[in-house]
Amino acid sequence: MQVSAQKIVVLGTGGTIAGTAAQAGDNIGYTAAQVGVGELLAAVPGLQALAGGPLVVEQVAQIDSKDMEHGVWRALALRCAECLADPAVRGVVITHGTDTIEETAWFLHSVLDATKPVVLTCAMRPSTALVPDGPQNLLDAVAVAASTGAQGVVVVAAGAIHGAQRVQKVHPYRVDPFSSGDAGPLGWVEEGAVRLVQGWPAVSQGKGLAAMQNQTADAPWPWVELVVSHAGASGRAVDALVRDGVQGLVVACTGNGTLHHALEAALLRAQAVGVRVVRATRCPEGQLLPTPGNALVAAPGLSPVKARISLVLDLLG
Ligand code: SIN
Repeated sequence: MQVSAQKIVVLGTGGTIAGTAAQAGDNIGYTAAQVGVGELLAAVPGLQALAGGPLVVEQVAQIDSKDMEHGVWRALALRCAECLADPAVRGVVITHGTDTIEETAWFLHSVLDATKPVVLTCAMRPSTALVPDGPQNLLDAVAVAASTGAQGVVVVAAGAIHGAQRVQKVHPYRVDPFSSGDAGPLGWVEEGAVRLVQGWPAVSQGKGLAAMQNQTADAPWPWVELVVSHAGASGRAVDALVRDGVQGLVVACTGNGTLHHALEAALLRAQAVGVRVVRATRCPEGQLLPTPGNALVAAPGLSPVKARISLVLDLLG
């Protein structure tokens, strides 16, 4: 049963969903983050009725998500935490670019005690496209936020509901660019109805939120870089980063967490002088299986970009 007095808060951050192109037929030569979130919502018939209560709109940022910064994440996390603690709020919808939506989703999943739904949505085509995908994605996201029993941080796009841990952007162009790999989506949104095929995500412990609350908006976050193991790899980039004061390194490993020997030697040197080193796999499906005795810890079930976020939060917390 829906509690009609409760509101859904829609936080805008930019992305292609808010993008505009000079010509309606242009789906790639556009500028992201041009249209305010209020204007986006106003253009979607039926949204208000689907929400079952007031829709409140706030513009938290207006950026192309390739430029996502820790300061925007902090602002988003703090505002989401306020909304989740407010009994008048039923759920939160966040409009976002597709390029780093999986990172923001994992970040928010990690820091929020999301006993209510926090639904990120996006679009692959700008708002000026002949057939934009943003309006339907917005409708679907609001349907999820208004759904009885919904909780946790999810990404809704192209009719699918993805969990924050597994979702990855796997295609640069098509209007359904996301996959949750072999885990599959959590469910679907069909004509405003949610059909869940897995449970809602488990609620996390809210790691790092207190540290963010105690920091100023421009305080630097721990410096964690990504490196990749590949044919012909060397340890030179790692050695340079260590000389520059890097605090953490996540390495995108081959297969089940293996490393080119030269890169591995450099990472062990880094770890020996106090740099935190974490292994993740380059493989988009499955997850790292434990290899006992490995001197470098692994992040099973996390892509390299998400393992980076978890290490940043560990160091922050
Ligand atoms: C962005 O990530 O902000 C631009 C690309 C997109 O939303 O598809």
